[in-house]
Amino acid sequence: MEEIISKLKKLVSTSDKIVAFTGAGFSAESGISTFRGAGGLWSKYDPSIYADINYFIKDPSYYWSFIRDERYPTLKKAKPNDGHYALVELERYGKLYRVITQNIDGFHQIAGSSDVIELHGNSRNVNCMNCEKNYNMDDVFKKLEKDIPPRCSCGGVLKPATVLFGEPLPQYALEMAKLASKNCDMFLVLGSSLVVYPAASLPRIAKKNGAKLVIINIDPTPLDHIADIVINDSASKVLTAVINGGLNE
Ligand code: OAD
Repeated sequence: MEEIISKLKKLVSTSDKIVAFTGAGFSAESGISTFRGAGGLWSKYDPSIYADINYFIKDPSYYWSFIRDERYPTLKKAKPNDGHYALVELERYGKLYRVITQNIDGFHQIAGSSDVIELHGNSRNVNCMNCEKNYNMDDVFKKLEKDIPPRCSCGGVLKPATVLFGEPLPQYALEMAKLASKNCDMFLVLGSSLVVYPAASLPRIAKKNGAKLVIINIDPTPLDHIADIVINDSASKVLTAVINGGLNE
Protein backbone atom coordinates (compact mmCIF):
# COMPACT_ATOMS: atom_id res chain seq x y z
CA MET A 1 0.00 0.00 0.00
CA GLU A 2 2.79 2.43 0.93
CA GLU A 3 4.33 2.02 -2.50
CA ILE A 4 1.12 2.80 -4.40
CA ILE A 5 0.39 5.82 -2.14
CA SER A 6 3.85 7.15 -2.87
CA LYS A 7 3.29 6.61 -6.63
CA LEU A 8 -0.01 8.49 -6.39
CA LYS A 9 1.58 11.28 -4.34
CA LYS A 10 4.21 11.72 -7.05
CA LEU A 11 1.53 11.85 -9.73
CA VAL A 12 -0.53 14.39 -7.78
CA SER A 13 2.59 16.49 -7.18
CA THR A 14 3.37 16.66 -10.90
CA SER A 15 -0.23 17.40 -11.93
CA ASP A 16 -1.64 20.91 -12.08
CA LYS A 17 -5.23 20.42 -13.20
CA ILE A 18 -6.82 17.61 -11.27
CA VAL A 19 -10.49 16.74 -11.65
CA ALA A 20 -11.93 14.93 -8.65
CA PHE A 21 -14.95 12.88 -9.71
CA THR A 22 -16.93 11.67 -6.71
CA GLY A 23 -19.66 9.10 -6.24
CA ALA A 24 -21.68 7.65 -3.38
CA GLY A 25 -18.64 5.76 -2.01
CA PHE A 26 -17.01 9.09 -1.20
CA SER A 27 -19.82 9.98 1.21
CA ALA A 28 -20.06 6.44 2.63
CA GLU A 29 -17.78 7.37 5.52
CA SER A 30 -20.15 10.23 6.33
CA GLY A 31 -22.75 7.54 7.03
CA ILE A 32 -24.66 7.80 3.76
CA SER A 33 -25.42 4.48 2.08
CA THR A 34 -24.14 3.77 -1.41
CA PHE A 35 -26.49 2.49 -4.13
CA ARG A 36 -24.39 -0.49 -5.17
CA GLY A 37 -21.70 -2.53 -3.46
CA ALA A 38 -22.09 -3.99 0.06
CA GLY A 39 -25.37 -2.87 1.69
CA GLY A 40 -26.25 -0.69 -1.31
CA LEU A 41 -29.70 0.95 -1.33
CA TRP A 42 -30.70 -0.66 -4.62
CA SER A 43 -30.60 -4.09 -2.97
CA LYS A 44 -33.41 -2.88 -0.65
CA TYR A 45 -35.29 -0.49 -2.95
CA ASP A 46 -36.08 -1.16 -6.59
CA PRO A 47 -34.74 1.88 -8.51
CA SER A 48 -37.36 1.43 -11.23
CA ILE A 49 -39.96 2.28 -8.55
CA TYR A 50 -38.02 4.52 -6.14
CA ALA A 51 -35.80 6.48 -8.51
CA ASP A 52 -37.40 6.61 -11.94
CA ILE A 53 -39.09 9.67 -13.41
CA ASN A 54 -41.83 7.70 -15.18
CA TYR A 55 -42.77 5.93 -11.98
CA PHE A 56 -42.59 9.24 -10.09
CA ILE A 57 -45.06 10.80 -12.53
CA LYS A 58 -47.38 7.79 -12.14
CA ASP A 59 -47.10 7.69 -8.32
CA PRO A 60 -44.76 10.11 -6.54
CA SER A 61 -45.53 8.63 -3.10
CA TYR A 62 -42.82 5.93 -3.37
CA TYR A 63 -39.99 8.36 -4.02
CA TRP A 64 -41.23 10.74 -1.33
CA SER A 65 -41.51 7.95 1.24
CA PHE A 66 -37.94 6.92 0.34
CA ILE A 67 -36.87 10.52 1.04
CA ARG A 68 -38.88 10.71 4.26
CA ASP A 69 -37.91 7.34 5.74
CA GLU A 70 -34.42 6.74 4.35
CA ARG A 71 -32.58 9.53 2.58
CA TYR A 72 -33.32 12.77 4.36
CA PRO A 73 -33.04 11.56 7.99
CA THR A 74 -29.60 10.11 7.13
CA LEU A 75 -28.52 13.29 5.36
CA LYS A 76 -29.58 15.48 8.28
CA LYS A 77 -27.36 13.51 10.68
CA ALA A 78 -24.35 13.30 8.36
CA LYS A 79 -21.39 15.62 7.87
CA PRO A 80 -18.56 15.89 5.34
CA ASN A 81 -15.74 13.43 6.07
CA ASP A 82 -11.93 13.59 5.89
CA GLY A 83 -12.04 12.94 2.14
CA HIS A 84 -14.10 16.08 1.50
CA TYR A 85 -11.61 18.11 3.56
CA ALA A 86 -8.63 16.51 1.76
CA LEU A 87 -10.06 17.84 -1.53
CA VAL A 88 -10.29 21.32 -0.01
CA GLU A 89 -6.62 20.96 0.95
CA LEU A 90 -5.78 19.89 -2.62
CA GLU A 91 -7.50 23.07 -3.82
CA ARG A 92 -5.30 25.12 -1.43
CA TYR A 93 -2.25 23.56 -3.08
CA GLY A 94 -3.55 24.94 -6.38
CA LYS A 95 -3.83 21.42 -7.79
CA LEU A 96 -7.57 20.98 -8.02
CA TYR A 97 -9.19 22.09 -11.25
CA ARG A 98 -12.80 21.04 -10.60
CA VAL A 99 -14.85 18.74 -8.42
CA ILE A 100 -17.46 16.87 -10.43
CA THR A 101 -19.91 15.00 -8.25
CA GLN A 102 -22.75 12.58 -8.75
CA ASN A 103 -23.65 13.06 -5.08
CA ILE A 104 -26.66 15.12 -4.06
CA ASP A 105 -25.65 15.76 -0.45
CA GLY A 106 -23.90 19.12 -0.95
CA PHE A 107 -20.96 18.00 1.23
CA HIS A 108 -18.22 19.35 -1.04
CA GLN A 109 -19.60 22.87 -0.74
CA ILE A 110 -20.16 22.50 3.02
CA ALA A 111 -16.53 21.34 3.43
CA GLY A 112 -15.34 24.38 1.47
CA SER A 113 -14.64 23.28 -2.12
CA SER A 114 -15.28 26.31 -4.29
CA ASP A 115 -15.81 24.86 -7.74
CA VAL A 116 -18.27 21.99 -7.69
CA ILE A 117 -20.23 20.66 -10.65
CA GLU A 118 -23.30 18.73 -9.51
CA LEU A 119 -24.34 16.29 -12.21
CA HIS A 120 -27.34 14.82 -10.41
CA GLY A 121 -28.66 17.93 -8.64
CA ASN A 122 -28.92 18.68 -4.92
CA SER A 123 -31.38 17.09 -2.54
CA ARG A 124 -31.58 20.15 -0.29
CA ASN A 125 -33.76 21.92 -2.87
CA VAL A 126 -37.25 21.09 -4.08
CA ASN A 127 -39.11 22.34 -7.15
CA CYS A 128 -42.76 22.44 -8.18
CA MET A 129 -43.32 20.32 -11.29
CA ASN A 130 -46.09 22.70 -12.37
CA CYS A 131 -44.94 26.30 -11.74
CA GLU A 132 -41.23 25.61 -10.95
CA LYS A 133 -41.38 27.45 -7.61
CA ASN A 134 -38.42 26.54 -5.38
CA TYR A 135 -38.64 25.28 -1.82
CA ASN A 136 -36.16 24.29 0.83
CA MET A 137 -36.15 20.56 1.70
CA ASP A 138 -36.10 21.35 5.45
CA ASP A 139 -39.46 23.10 5.08
CA VAL A 140 -40.96 20.46 2.83
CA PHE A 141 -39.73 17.65 5.08
CA LYS A 142 -41.84 18.95 7.98
CA LYS A 143 -44.97 18.42 5.88
CA LEU A 144 -44.14 14.85 4.85
CA GLU A 145 -45.75 13.29 7.95
CA LYS A 146 -49.15 14.33 6.59
CA ASP A 147 -48.68 15.16 2.92
CA ILE A 148 -47.24 12.61 0.54
CA PRO A 149 -46.66 13.79 -2.09
CA PRO A 150 -46.12 17.34 -0.85
CA ARG A 151 -47.69 20.03 -3.01
CA CYS A 152 -46.90 23.58 -4.05
CA SER A 153 -49.18 26.51 -3.21
CA CYS A 154 -50.31 26.26 -6.86
CA GLY A 155 -51.41 22.65 -6.29
CA GLY A 156 -48.58 21.12 -8.35
CA VAL A 157 -46.60 18.10 -7.13
CA LEU A 158 -43.19 18.92 -5.60
CA LYS A 159 -40.06 17.03 -6.62
CA PRO A 160 -36.57 17.17 -5.10
CA ALA A 161 -34.13 19.00 -7.37
CA THR A 162 -32.31 15.77 -8.18
CA VAL A 163 -32.03 13.70 -11.33
CA LEU A 164 -34.03 10.49 -11.47
CA PHE A 165 -33.41 7.67 -13.95
CA GLY A 166 -35.03 8.62 -17.26
CA GLU A 167 -34.37 12.33 -16.76
CA PRO A 168 -31.72 14.31 -18.62
CA LEU A 169 -28.80 15.69 -16.61
CA PRO A 170 -28.70 19.48 -16.13
CA GLN A 171 -27.29 20.54 -19.50
CA TYR A 172 -24.94 23.28 -18.30
CA ALA A 173 -23.44 21.06 -15.59
CA LEU A 174 -22.88 18.24 -18.07
CA GLU A 175 -21.21 20.55 -20.61
CA MET A 176 -18.95 22.03 -17.90
CA ALA A 177 -18.08 18.54 -16.71
CA LYS A 178 -17.17 17.40 -20.24
CA LEU A 179 -15.00 20.48 -20.75
CA ALA A 180 -13.21 19.96 -17.43
CA SER A 181 -12.64 16.29 -18.31
CA LYS A 182 -11.11 17.29 -21.66
CA ASN A 183 -8.83 19.91 -20.10
CA CYS A 184 -7.59 18.20 -16.94
CA ASP A 185 -4.22 16.47 -16.61
CA MET A 186 -5.40 13.98 -13.99
CA PHE A 187 -8.86 12.51 -13.49
CA LEU A 188 -9.35 11.10 -10.03
CA VAL A 189 -12.35 8.81 -9.51
CA LEU A 190 -13.33 8.62 -5.85
CA GLY A 191 -15.94 6.09 -4.73
CA SER A 192 -18.01 5.46 -7.84
CA SER A 193 -19.04 2.18 -9.45
CA LEU A 194 -18.79 3.92 -12.87
CA VAL A 195 -21.84 2.18 -14.24
CA VAL A 196 -24.27 5.10 -14.58
CA TYR A 197 -24.10 7.11 -17.81
CA PRO A 198 -23.53 9.79 -18.98
CA ALA A 199 -21.48 10.50 -15.81
CA ALA A 200 -19.36 7.39 -16.34
CA SER A 201 -18.32 8.60 -19.80
CA LEU A 202 -16.22 11.40 -18.24
CA PRO A 203 -13.20 9.27 -17.21
CA ARG A 204 -12.99 8.00 -20.81
CA ILE A 205 -13.10 11.57 -22.16
CA ALA A 206 -10.27 12.56 -19.79
CA LYS A 207 -8.15 9.54 -20.68
CA LYS A 208 -8.70 10.06 -24.41
CA ASN A 209 -7.50 13.65 -24.07
CA GLY A 210 -4.25 12.68 -22.38
CA ALA A 211 -5.06 12.85 -18.66
CA LYS A 212 -3.82 10.26 -16.19
CA LEU A 213 -6.73 8.24 -14.86
CA VAL A 214 -6.73 7.18 -11.21
CA ILE A 215 -9.56 5.12 -9.70
CA ILE A 216 -9.93 4.76 -5.94
CA ASN A 217 -12.90 2.54 -5.19
CA ILE A 218 -13.49 -0.38 -2.84
CA ASP A 219 -14.86 -2.63 -5.60
CA PRO A 220 -13.49 -3.06 -9.14
CA THR A 221 -15.07 -0.88 -11.85
CA PRO A 222 -15.60 -1.45 -15.59
CA LEU A 223 -12.95 1.21 -16.36
CA ASP A 224 -10.11 -0.25 -14.29
CA HIS A 225 -8.46 -1.63 -17.43
CA ILE A 226 -7.84 1.88 -18.86
CA ALA A 227 -6.68 3.43 -15.56
CA ASP A 228 -3.07 4.33 -14.78
CA ILE A 229 -3.55 3.58 -11.09
CA VAL A 230 -6.34 1.56 -9.41
CA ILE A 231 -6.59 1.38 -5.62
CA ASN A 232 -9.31 -0.80 -4.07
CA ASP A 233 -9.57 0.92 -0.72
CA SER A 234 -11.33 3.76 1.10
CA ALA A 235 -11.14 6.90 -1.05
CA SER A 236 -11.07 9.17 1.97
CA LYS A 237 -8.27 7.17 3.64
CA VAL A 238 -6.12 7.09 0.50
CA LEU A 239 -6.63 10.78 -0.28
CA THR A 240 -5.79 11.79 3.28
CA ALA A 241 -2.63 9.66 3.17
CA VAL A 242 -1.61 11.37 -0.09
CA ILE A 243 -2.10 14.88 1.30
CA ASN A 244 -0.58 14.14 4.75
CA GLY A 245 2.96 15.38 5.06
CA GLY A 246 2.46 17.77 2.14
CA LEU A 247 3.05 17.42 -1.57
CA ASN A 248 6.34 17.84 -3.41
CA GLU A 249 5.87 21.22 -5.11
P1 OAD B 1 -22.62 3.45 -6.42
O1 OAD B 1 -23.40 3.14 -5.21
O2 OAD B 1 -23.05 2.86 -7.71
O3 OAD B 1 -21.11 3.01 -6.22
C1 OAD B 1 -20.43 3.33 -5.05
C2 OAD B 1 -19.09 2.63 -5.09
O4 OAD B 1 -18.34 3.09 -3.98
C3 OAD B 1 -19.14 1.12 -4.98
O5 OAD B 1 -18.49 0.53 -6.11
C4 OAD B 1 -18.40 0.79 -3.69
O6 OAD B 1 -17.50 -0.30 -3.83
C5 OAD B 1 -17.59 2.02 -3.46
N1 OAD B 1 -17.32 2.37 -2.06
C6 OAD B 1 -18.07 2.19 -0.96
N2 OAD B 1 -17.49 2.75 0.11
C7 OAD B 1 -16.34 3.30 -0.32
C8 OAD B 1 -15.29 4.04 0.30
N3 OAD B 1 -15.31 4.34 1.60
N4 OAD B 1 -14.26 4.45 -0.48
C9 OAD B 1 -14.20 4.13 -1.80
N5 OAD B 1 -15.17 3.45 -2.44
C10 OAD B 1 -16.22 3.05 -1.72
O7 OAD B 1 -22.51 5.05 -6.48
P2 OAD B 1 -22.32 5.99 -7.76
O8 OAD B 1 -21.28 5.47 -8.65
O9 OAD B 1 -22.17 7.36 -7.20
O10 OAD B 1 -28.05 8.14 -9.48
O11 OAD B 1 -23.71 5.84 -8.44
C11 OAD B 1 -24.01 6.61 -9.56
C12 OAD B 1 -25.47 6.96 -9.59
O12 OAD B 1 -26.25 5.78 -9.46
C13 OAD B 1 -25.93 7.81 -8.41
O13 OAD B 1 -25.68 9.18 -8.58
C14 OAD B 1 -27.40 7.52 -8.36
C15 OAD B 1 -27.31 6.01 -8.49
O14 OAD B 1 -28.41 5.33 -8.88
C16 OAD B 1 -29.36 8.30 -9.52
O15 OAD B 1 -30.09 7.97 -8.60
C17 OAD B 1 -29.86 8.93 -10.77
